[in-house]
Amino acid sequence: MRPVSVWQWSPWGLLLCLLCSSCLGSPSPSTGPEKKAGSQGLRFRLAGFPRKPYEGRVEIQRAGEWGTICDDDFTLQAAHVLCRELGFTEATGWTHSAKYGPGTGRIWLDNLSCSGTEQSVTECASRGWGNSDCTHDEDAGVICKDQRLPGFSDSNVIEVEHHLQVEEVRIRPAVGWGRRPLPVTEGLVEVRLPDGWSQVCDKGWSAHNSHVVCGMLGFPSEKRVNAAFYRLLAQRQQHSFGLHGVACVGTEAHLSLCSLEFYRANDTARCPGGAPAVVSCVPGPLYAASSGQKKQQQSKPQGEARVRLKGGAHPGEGRVEVLKASTWGTVCDRKWDLHAASVVCRELGFGSAQAALSGARMGQDVSKRYECANFGEQGITVGCWDLYRHDIDCQWIDITDVKPGNYILQVVINPNFEVAESDFTNNAMKCNCKYDGHRIWVHNCHIGDAFSEEANRRFERYPGQTSNQII
Ligand SMILES: *[C@@H]1O[C@H](CO)[C@@H](O)[C@H](O)[C@H]1NC(C)=O
Ligand SMILES: *[C@@H]1O[C@H](CO)[C@@H](O)[C@H](O)[C@H]1NC(C)=O
Repeated sequence: MRPVSVWQWSPWGLLLCLLCSSCLGSPSPSTGPEKKAGSQGLRFRLAGFPRKPYEGRVEIQRAGEWGTICDDDFTLQAAHVLCRELGFTEATGWTHSAKYGPGTGRIWLDNLSCSGTEQSVTECASRGWGNSDCTHDEDAGVICKDQRLPGFSDSNVIEVEHHLQVEEVRIRPAVGWGRRPLPVTEGLVEVRLPDGWSQVCDKGWSAHNSHVVCGMLGFPSEKRVNAAFYRLLAQRQQHSFGLHGVACVGTEAHLSLCSLEFYRANDTARCPGGAPAVVSCVPGPLYAASSGQKKQQQSKPQGEARVRLKGGAHPGEGRVEVLKASTWGTVCDRKWDLHAASVVCRELGFGSAQAALSGARMGQDVSKRYECANFGEQGITVGCWDLYRHDIDCQWIDITDVKPGNYILQVVINPNFEVAESDFTNNAMKCNCKYDGHRIWVHNCHIGDAFSEEANRRFERYPGQTSNQII
């Protein structure tokens, strides 16, 4: 634990912080000790592609018929309820616009509205079962926390479709294995299929394909390779081809989204007259920085940034902000998808996007409602949540450069007794503060006498506490 910072703050700032401690906490809906099979005769499953076992399009079976949920009015609260129906502890996110592909059959629920604490989705409000004006292009999905509810005894099917699919892609250097500086930017394209790694037949291979492969490996662009050199090399090596006919448009975020064909087990002559596909990628500034070319990169004149990421835990992650008329603003998540996210990622020097997050998962950029007065030393930069109820002297705490961790938030008011007060018991506040890279929990706030041993002991009493619930 170490203090973040100490500053002067008006009593209103104190009020703000206490308000925040109850509004920034994570929802931790109570979960029943044991889940009975089939809530209200309903069954739930996750479907779609590509996905992990704990995410997908939500499908509900009712009266023997499987159907989906429309994304209209969908919220994280609804996702919490659905994830618990599926046997997971909670949701970490949700998706819209059929991110996992459109479903079929009924659209069982529309305008679903849950508070997050419901034991069953039947307790949530909606337009009524089967009443929807949506199409399956609006199917909602959930991303559950990869943690099962203890004692969950539901027979809900969690089906991961075992399609033949490209699970992973890598570039294997054709020469000098292991003697090159990381990252590998040029070499044979290899794909991992259920039975292992194999090469891709280069017949019909295009620059669009290379663009997609480089993008998904984190490189913003690709360059031409010495085809003659690789052809010669290929003649002297054995290959096992697993894939052919790859035809990407170039905007795909993953090779598995391109049109392609797998070889069948009984295809004896694979890739006749062809060779393994080879790509050469151009690393972006992040990789260049990690391989000792940082100075070179920094000395390049940099154009004025027009896009930036804020509020993410790692480089290459965050809320997208764009500069327009010298003001940074955010982007609405409507129609926000991997394609759009990839454009931003490449503009920032990364490859294609791994995920397009919506529903303000990187925090909402709440717009200022009031102009704030700033009296010299009180100035704290803008960047934190700033929802003010009154037009008063107010400050912000910019936490965008603070690393995730546990901190003590301390606010000092009128420390030198320059302003008369009836008593000084309220002139300091100290809180425990946990930052996970996305959200801040301010808890255990203590007003007055915050410098005393006694107060410190009281703060250290709940070191494992991670929510803002005062025990
Ligand atoms: C359902 O949600 C959509 C999108 O938010 C909204 O336009 C529509 O008015 C809602 N319909 C009802 C009946 O609440
Ligand atoms: C190859 O196997 C597939 C099924 O895996 C079968 O449908 C096809 O007829 C077989 N082709 C030949 C030429 O044996």
